[in-house]
Amino acid sequence: MCGIVGYLGQRRAYDVLIQGLHRLEYRGYDSSGVAMINASGDLNIYKSKGKVEALEHFTQSKDLDGCIGIAHTRWATHGEPNDINAHPHVSQSQMLALVHNGTIENYNVLKEALTLHGYKFVSETDTEVVVQLIDYIMQTNGCSLFDAVREATRQIVGAYAIAVIDKSKPDEIIAARQSSPLVIGVGENNEYFLASDATPIIEYTNKVVYLNDGEVAIINHQTGLHIFDAHNTDESEIHITELKMSIDELEKGGYPHFMLKEIFEQPRTLADCISGRISSDAKSVVLSGVIENREKFINAQRIIIVACGTSWHAALIGKHLIEDFCRIPVVVEYASEFRYSNPVVNKGDVLIALSQSGETADTLAALELAKSQGAFVFGICNVIGSSIPRATHSGCYIHVGPEIGVASTKAFTGQVTVLAMLALLVGQMRGKVSEETLETVATDLRRVPTLIQDIFDRLNGKIEDLAKIFTYAHNFLYLGRGYNYPSALEGALKLKEISYIHAEGYPAAEMKHGTIALIDVDMPSVVIAIKDKVYEKTVSNIQQVKARGGKVVAIVTEGDEVVSALADHVLEIPAIVEPLTPLLTAIPLQLLAYYIAVNKGRNVDQPRNLAKSVTVE
Ligand code: AGP
Ligand code: GLU
Repeated sequence: MCGIVGYLGQRRAYDVLIQGLHRLEYRGYDSSGVAMINASGDLNIYKSKGKVEALEHFTQSKDLDGCIGIAHTRWATHGEPNDINAHPHVSQSQMLALVHNGTIENYNVLKEALTLHGYKFVSETDTEVVVQLIDYIMQTNGCSLFDAVREATRQIVGAYAIAVIDKSKPDEIIAARQSSPLVIGVGENNEYFLASDATPIIEYTNKVVYLNDGEVAIINHQTGLHIFDAHNTDESEIHITELKMSIDELEKGGYPHFMLKEIFEQPRTLADCISGRISSDAKSVVLSGVIENREKFINAQRIIIVACGTSWHAALIGKHLIEDFCRIPVVVEYASEFRYSNPVVNKGDVLIALSQSGETADTLAALELAKSQGAFVFGICNVIGSSIPRATHSGCYIHVGPEIGVASTKAFTGQVTVLAMLALLVGQMRGKVSEETLETVATDLRRVPTLIQDIFDRLNGKIEDLAKIFTYAHNFLYLGRGYNYPSALEGALKLKEISYIHAEGYPAAEMKHGTIALIDVDMPSVVIAIKDKVYEKTVSNIQQVKARGGKVVAIVTEGDEVVSALADHVLEIPAIVEPLTPLLTAIPLQLLAYYIAVNKGRNVDQPRNLAKSVTVE
């Protein structure tokens, strides 16, 4: 996601824009830019790679006058973070400037068509297609900016919140949204603000209008605010909301912590992660990085996955997925161990570097080592243009948006989702996955966002209450098997890193080989006991824990009666094909850790001793 700001009124637009970008920087900070129209009718555009501070430095001594402007802080999805790909983007006519939040799924098709009409593209972004399309429509039809934006929204497919200004009309901003948020602030005397959320607006006015999907707004200093349905001429009624939230709450979308916001974002972030990659009939998976390198994956003798922390847990799930669907042996290595272990790497090896930040030093060093020994190196990251994607031969992004909370949540489920899609695609390429299996699993993968929302609706309050019982526990055991042994490891890490309670993830069956000596009434166990192929064995493990007085919190498949009669606390999750269960079991584990940490008064978003990206050894 990114941050959009717009202003129209009596103030110097630049001051409102730059302050607004600072407030939205949490939404992405790959690059930023501003566009203003000054009193002479000049359209001045300044943009710079890096944080907003870099833009402020760049604009010193520049012409910053003008009472109308738009601005953008970018979280790149298409095209490296650099000055050229930074927004605002300018039309070929040099008349229009546009900023965009979202992704245009059909930008390639539109780009080809516009190129045939003489348009030359200067950036790698999908966004530039939108401003050139609007320009083309205006030039071709001789219509207004509003009519051109409305027509363009009928042709673009994807998620967008856009704001556009025309240097020939310095008193008007046109805005439109579909799936990405856009808020209009209503000031006095036809003064208007525009932003991705209310944080840049609240210090000027608490009166806001939320633009709805499929709407196009005309914000005009003379005629005021008018909102229309993009698909007909109906003018929408203006509903003004009076905000009462503080700035800090608004940056977190009303949540008390970024971590909770990111936990609850997962239905949308996983929908974004899957978007354009699983066909609507669930019969095909498209990961361009894999397709462009199909021979590497088809002929791979072995796949090595290197990662750290939560990403290492996702990698363990990836091992299950790839071995199940592709029948390729997979080795999962801590990157820090791999890089110093004098590893045997063969030319037929594929190495996957799994990293949310794309900057983890050990993971970067591990992939460089493997690359130097002839392996094909593939990156799966979240932050576009970070060091790991730039060092690999190819890769794909998880597209879950900036993860601010130090404890990884939405990136974990995004990584598992991409690994599942990769396993299905490569399995199909190698003839190991039938069309029926692919359709079954892909159909369930498309259901995951809805199923996660169902878990929130049913379990959030229950888990918040459950956390109160265990707030003062000193130790925890997390037990799981198969696909959910890594889930147990991840649940334990979540609890450790934000509550500072010691927790250990363990294979459920392995308990009786020593660890069971720890079990007593003061050692609670969280057991993942979903209806999988080893369910009965896990039930036995629960009985072994109960026989020694241990308290058990069980995560079970909806409708379970056996474990529900045994465990002290039961959390039911919806049924789904076994390989995808970690995407659902992660949710109660994230919430349990979060609420226990909050009860303990911990700094959930920035726990002690930790950093979001470990760029040192
Ligand atoms: C997970 O909650 C931690 N923040 C940490 O273990 C993290 O997963 C690890 O440092 C790897 O980071 P990366 O995914 O950015 O490489
Ligand atoms: N897809 C656009 C880009 O990559 C916008 C990304 C965003 O929402 O920041 O520039």
